[in-house]
Amino acid sequence: TSHAQAAEASDSPLVVAHRGASAYAPENTLAAVDKAADMGFSWVENDVQRTRDGELVVLHDASLARTTNVEKVFPNRSPWNVRDFTAAEVARLDAGSWFSSRYKGARVPTLKQYMNRVSRNHQKLVLEIKNPALYPGIERETLKVLSNEGWLSPVQLRSRLVVQSFSADTVRTVHRLRPGVKTAFLGTPSVTDLPEYATFADQINPSHTTISSSYVAAIQAFDGPHGKPLEVLTWTVDDAAGARRVAGYGVDGIITNKPDVIRNATGG
Ligand code: G3P
Ligand code: CA
Repeated sequence: TSHAQAAEASDSPLVVAHRGASAYAPENTLAAVDKAADMGFSWVENDVQRTRDGELVVLHDASLARTTNVEKVFPNRSPWNVRDFTAAEVARLDAGSWFSSRYKGARVPTLKQYMNRVSRNHQKLVLEIKNPALYPGIERETLKVLSNEGWLSPVQLRSRLVVQSFSADTVRTVHRLRPGVKTAFLGTPSVTDLPEYATFADQINPSHTTISSSYVAAIQAFDGPHGKPLEVLTWTVDDAAGARRVAGYGVDGIITNKPDVIRNATGG
């Protein structure tokens, strides 16, 4: 019946476009979040790091080398870590050509530029604070940009934003600074440690290679800091069989480079 179908659809895991729709456009660029929006996906996951002069930028690796033409533009600056470059230098780089000549001229967005675009696209964010040990204070700075861009007002706060990190300290810090913000810990904590994580994280987001049905259920049995059951978003699943497997475990969401493939497999 249509009722049953509706119920089934609402049980489908949320599909989150990893680094934007990064199988189809260069990861962590405005083109990749636009691509996700064009494909009908509102949720995107992207990564935040910091330049030498303190600008927050959207980039996955600590180094610019893999996803930009930095080696050509600045041949003597090995290993091309973003924290050793100014924002003006980063702005000169091409972050699209490595992926496809179609995306020549794509840039490494500043977090501000990125927030502007996802706001315009009416998107929802899983924002990862990357390598926080390299960037003291990045938690507060990230929250500041989110606040300036209007993303920390109580209206819709927890329906469109999650801040995540592999660093438990960073997740704890974000929760302490802005308790209203939804947070996620990236990793696979042991079940005995879950009560502690549940004091500061609303989600536990583990690699799909580390999870089982019982582990997912164990996480969801705890309530998070906002009094709701902990959620599980797993990553990075790009194939239909894998998606059906983790959907069968009852995960709340799937973070994927190929959101269309995952939606087709799960109805999410
Ligand atoms: O959101 C999960 C995933 O992004 C974590 O791994 O390396 O792709 O940032 P990574
Ligand atoms: Ca990430």
